[in-house]
Amino acid sequence: MDDNECLPDVASNGGAVPLPDAGPASPGRLTAEETARYVVTAAVWAPSVHNTQPWRFTAVRQQISLHADAARQLRVADPDGREMLISCGAALFTARLALRSLGFVPETDVLPDPGQPLLVARVSWPRRAASTEFEQALFGQVRQRRTHRGGFDPVPLPPGLLAALRESAARYGAMLRIVADDGRRAALAAAVEEAERTQRLDGERTRELARWAPAPGSPRTDGVPPDSYPARAEHTDPDFPGRDFAHGHGWGLPPLSTARWPRSAGVAALLTTARDRPADWINAGQALQRILLTAATSGAATALNTQPLEFGRLRESIRTGLSDGAYPQMVLRFGAVIQAAASVRRPPDDVLSTGGSEDDSTGEG
Ligand SMILES: Cc1cc2nc3c(=O)[nH]c(=O)nc-3n(C[C@H](O)[C@H](O)[C@H](O)COP(=O)(O)O)c2cc1C
Repeated sequence: MDDNECLPDVASNGGAVPLPDAGPASPGRLTAEETARYVVTAAVWAPSVHNTQPWRFTAVRQQISLHADAARQLRVADPDGREMLISCGAALFTARLALRSLGFVPETDVLPDPGQPLLVARVSWPRRAASTEFEQALFGQVRQRRTHRGGFDPVPLPPGLLAALRESAARYGAMLRIVADDGRRAALAAAVEEAERTQRLDGERTRELARWAPAPGSPRTDGVPPDSYPARAEHTDPDFPGRDFAHGHGWGLPPLSTARWPRSAGVAALLTTARDRPADWINAGQALQRILLTAATSGAATALNTQPLEFGRLRESIRTGLSDGAYPQMVLRFGAVIQAAASVRRPPDDVLSTGGSEDDSTGEG
């Protein structure tokens, strides 16, 4: 598949921000191995469920293979690996965008080997074409973008942004459905609330979440750190409660805003796919990262509330009641807010092996 991202421009406030420790973005001077390192240095900044970073990369000559790391799958919340593959899809999009930032045209083969279901994609870079301003703007947000957890300021989204986000989803065969009607918004919020309540009463689920929610000062480079969520839940109208990462410890950021609560819930949306196969999950992940980066280029923040999609009954009721029978993959909210959240990632050396045979250590089976 030839997948030059050359895209129509949308409103953008971002220039290309070089990735720290990625080295100079000058393709002429990079060896294939240096290119792979540059690409992986960017790709690790993709979003992933609970920041599990469920991926590994192998690079051989001008080809990178992206593998799902099943040891990092959420066995309780995500037994089918759906969220794991959405996360890998987001990393795949970021890897391709990094190649575009170098002026390469990536060629991507998604799930290239039916015998290796954890081999998410192979990406090579046989040709060159200058990157567009929009691609550079998206790339400039790879490290800056943060998941927002809470409410939004009562400010409208920039004109044209929702159309650009819908277009991002469509590029990967997915659909971004804005849940605008008050009744439907309330129904979606109620599903998030019910999932959150059920999750908090379920010992196995709360223990799994706690494993990915390290304490303040932890040296861990994965999981959701306390400086990425508010210490006091920010209520919205309707209320979309966040995940309980602090699990009773009172961890989290002090309130930034003195605005009166409840704050705006923002523009609620569902990212859906017509089918529900692993390839659809990977494409939903590619769409997700393009959506998040596109919003970020316009100065908009995105909150994710995927809790109800981890309960079969709630996911099914959202599918039939709110998304015309299409499969919901993500629950998103867009809005304006000043963000102070931080995040962490494993260093590229922890996830990239170079020089060996491409698929020799998939850890499958
Ligand atoms: C499939 C998927 C599901 C997610 N679900 C939620 C969620 O329900 N609540 C939330 O606060 N963040 C959610 N996130 C965001 C991750 O927690 C976040 O990407 C990760 O902690 C890294 O932080 P960053 O996005 O700020 O870099 C989800 C991300 C993915 C890819």
